[in-house]
Amino acid sequence: MCGIVGYVGKSQAAPILLDGLSKLEYRGYDSAGVAVYSDDHIEVVKTKGRLKVLSDMLDGGKNLPGTVGIGHTRWATHGEPSDVNSHPHMSGDGRFAVVHNGIIENYLVLKNRLIEKGFHFVSETDTEVIAHLVEYYYKGDIMDTMRSLLNAMEGSYALGIIRADKPDEIVAVRKDSPLIVGLSDEGNFIASDIPALLNYTRDIYHLDEKEIVILRQDGVSIYNMDGEPVNKKVFHVDWDVSAAEKGGYEHFMIKEIMEQPKALADTLKPRIQDGRVVLDDIKLTAEDLKDIHKIDIVACGSAYHTGVVGKYVIEELTRKPVEVDLASEFRYRSPILDQHTLVIIISQSGETADTLAALRYAKTQGARTLSIVNVVGSSIANQSDDVLYTWAGPEIAVATTKAYSCQLGVLYLLALYIGDLLGTIPADVYRDYVAELLILPDKIQSILEHKEDIQYFASRNFGAKDVFFIGRNVDYALTLEGSLKLKEISYIHSEAYAAGELKHGTISLIEDGTLVVAVATLDRLFDKTMSNVKEVKARGAYVLGLTTENNRKIEQSCDFVFYIPETLDLLLPSLAVIPLQIFSYYMALMKGCDIDKPRNLAKSVTVE
Ligand code: F6R
Repeated sequence: MCGIVGYVGKSQAAPILLDGLSKLEYRGYDSAGVAVYSDDHIEVVKTKGRLKVLSDMLDGGKNLPGTVGIGHTRWATHGEPSDVNSHPHMSGDGRFAVVHNGIIENYLVLKNRLIEKGFHFVSETDTEVIAHLVEYYYKGDIMDTMRSLLNAMEGSYALGIIRADKPDEIVAVRKDSPLIVGLSDEGNFIASDIPALLNYTRDIYHLDEKEIVILRQDGVSIYNMDGEPVNKKVFHVDWDVSAAEKGGYEHFMIKEIMEQPKALADTLKPRIQDGRVVLDDIKLTAEDLKDIHKIDIVACGSAYHTGVVGKYVIEELTRKPVEVDLASEFRYRSPILDQHTLVIIISQSGETADTLAALRYAKTQGARTLSIVNVVGSSIANQSDDVLYTWAGPEIAVATTKAYSCQLGVLYLLALYIGDLLGTIPADVYRDYVAELLILPDKIQSILEHKEDIQYFASRNFGAKDVFFIGRNVDYALTLEGSLKLKEISYIHSEAYAAGELKHGTISLIEDGTLVVAVATLDRLFDKTMSNVKEVKARGAYVLGLTTENNRKIEQSCDFVFYIPETLDLLLPSLAVIPLQIFSYYMALMKGCDIDKPRNLAKSVTVE
């Protein structure tokens, strides 16, 4: 949430800042602003609304000259979206401008102290405290200032600061919020995420917590809190620029849905060698695993939903007990953790505040941690004992699709790997799983080729007010994701229920015409789920059935059916999620929703 960019170099800063922010809009889009050192002072231009409003005000950046600047796109936390609450924020004396992503938890205490000292606040934000604090601490040495600032602030932050008395520099720092440094001969950059920089450079530094960065046109210096220089390895980004562009699609979401065969193949195939799952990237040994008594999977949102599927998969293949927790609940319920627990953390961004906090908590309790993360070098990846990357490439749409699929892929690999080391999977079963995993991407491709069938269904049903998703076992786990996907981008109320649970209360909501999506991919539970379909049909429901190609008898019970290819039971969610994603996409499209940027949401939730 919130995107930051900064540039110091030979070119005009404002157009570069606007361009960078346009690649970060997925992180927040209720207001935007830039600060550029221009004509002997810092000029701030900011406004409520989408980046386009700011860009029009600045004529694409042309009417704000200057070669040093910072920019911000906001997802409001403290203070409503408004011109005055937009970033950058200035110190009272006009010498410092600050952009911030994160939350300063003790901002009220700091604000009251500053007010007592005569500082005057104009916004409701926590960020304005930072601007005034910098002014308060600054006695000519920016390193001393930053140290005092970092000691005073509690919470999470990625900061970009420019100052009028040293107009050729940007100062930056991060703690618990993402920030990278981009390097080029033309100038240097800061940004919340790689896509903001891809038009300018592929050479970046990942920053560790509380490293203080001074950027100038001709170089970047990084220091630790003791003021000692830190040497960093340059990370070269090898993505294709098109990976961060829409490439002819109307939305990033549909582009990312269509990219799933490749993303999943990239995630799975290098880790399957000669019929075996090889996870060179982790250090867990058979001895370690024998010592693990319990596995906890912890994540938020869709990543949590992959964890719910993961519970079925890991328990079945490894016979280890698995618990799944929402990260925001985990550390507040005092979970039973020790050195015999493996905590698996799942996160696309690797920066989700609750998930990061859960990881840290698990470590304090002595648990072994392994994360499944998409963003290389993110906080969660850096702080886990082991990390398995999902090689999904950049995911820009707020609603996750390809990252979900790749997280599932990694969970399958991990379950097979653990089961293999523990000897809990018969050789023929292991062989079948590996063979099926390798052809999952092709099966996904074949589903995508029929997306128009779902589009047609959506075109007839996008007026639905409520949608109920039902399923059993992994189908139930999958409906959680189907329901979230639909509600978050189409704003249609939806709920996911274990099919057998519906009659314990929720069935009273079913009335004439209520749309029910019945996921019944498991042969062994097919008849049971069909009984539940009959129950809702008897109360007037209109039912979309989702099953495998062999279960043609579903047509007797459902009003509309979508088939997916056959595969092993535990792998079915990987296929069945695809039509559910497509369904949500087209429902939202027909309703005219802003699909890539749904209201009130942001891609990376770096606040609790
Ligand atoms: C929904 C969605 C979110 C994320 C959740 C966790 O489509 O994308 O529910 O799954 O915010 O984010 P990460 O995976 O970045 O930790």
